[in-house]
Amino acid sequence: ERMPALLRAMPKAELHMHIEGSLEPEQMFAFAQRNRVPLAWPSAQAVREAYVFDNLQSFLDIYHAGTLVLKTEQDFYDMACAYLQRAQADNVTHAELFFDTQTHTGHGLSAETVVNGLHRACMDAPAQFGMTASLILCFLRHLSEAEAFECLEQVLPLGDKIVGIGLASSEVGHPPEKFARVFARAGQLGYRLVAHAGEEGPAAYIWSALDVLKVERIDHGVQAMTDAALMQRLAQDRIPLTVCPLSNLKLRVYPSLTQHSIGRMLEAGMVATINSDDPAYFGGYMNENFTQTFAALQLGSQQAYQLARNSFEASFIGAAERALQM
Ligand code: ADE
Ligand code: ZN
Repeated sequence: ERMPALLRAMPKAELHMHIEGSLEPEQMFAFAQRNRVPLAWPSAQAVREAYVFDNLQSFLDIYHAGTLVLKTEQDFYDMACAYLQRAQADNVTHAELFFDTQTHTGHGLSAETVVNGLHRACMDAPAQFGMTASLILCFLRHLSEAEAFECLEQVLPLGDKIVGIGLASSEVGHPPEKFARVFARAGQLGYRLVAHAGEEGPAAYIWSALDVLKVERIDHGVQAMTDAALMQRLAQDRIPLTVCPLSNLKLRVYPSLTQHSIGRMLEAGMVATINSDDPAYFGGYMNENFTQTFAALQLGSQQAYQLARNSFEASFIGAAERALQM
């Protein structure tokens, strides 16, 4: 078929993926073995069978268990390289990787171990995988403001190895306002700002991510479709939304991909993009997200072009690099 071939072949940027969510069960077992960490599952197959979720929290619990096998800088390097190789195979020419140091410092690792391993993979990406990659640190919103400040302090000595700051984990009950001061500080320090908002949480969280946290991009943002004034604001100000269709399906934000709002977002002139979120857990990398979404919503080449174009416009690539990418 013509449409899937076009979707697979077109150059695209990925702007919403958690590198810890790219850890495939086989690799989880390999790391567990080399680091002598016990796993709760007997086999990679058993791990895969455990990937059935009711909502965001049920996923976060399993995702957290998977991160326990990560111990060394080399683990983070190897995990990121495995993702970059898959991204290259999907014709991703630029990727912005989310990671959360707090998960790993909570297990006794240093922020430096995490960032240095991931950053070395990003530096090797052009030569090894024919693409560019950069890092965005997400604060965990179920933890406190003080812990986010502490996390920010820990990465300051690592300087420009991190291009941006984001906000992830359990959304409902942890509104953006909780992190107003630490985002203001991160902005002063020159970090690009993004936040997960309107995945399971209400449209009000998207408003406050914009107006209180002053983010440049919204991660997910699908709940904006319940608020016409917000849809208009996002379209007018060309605020990008990093939408993750297979994630939304697996976490039951939508009962089926045929119900997904990304087609309507594009129709409304919103700068929507397609991304994989946690590809090892949600059943697919970029091209799988594109092909399944296009089939379910019967989208065409015009939307394909718009989504690819949106992904580069929404990226944090420098202007010079961008001219080369497009
Ligand atoms: N961390 C990893 N994936 C996430 C998601 N989809 N929402 C919030 N936090 C996450
Ligand atoms: Zn996410």
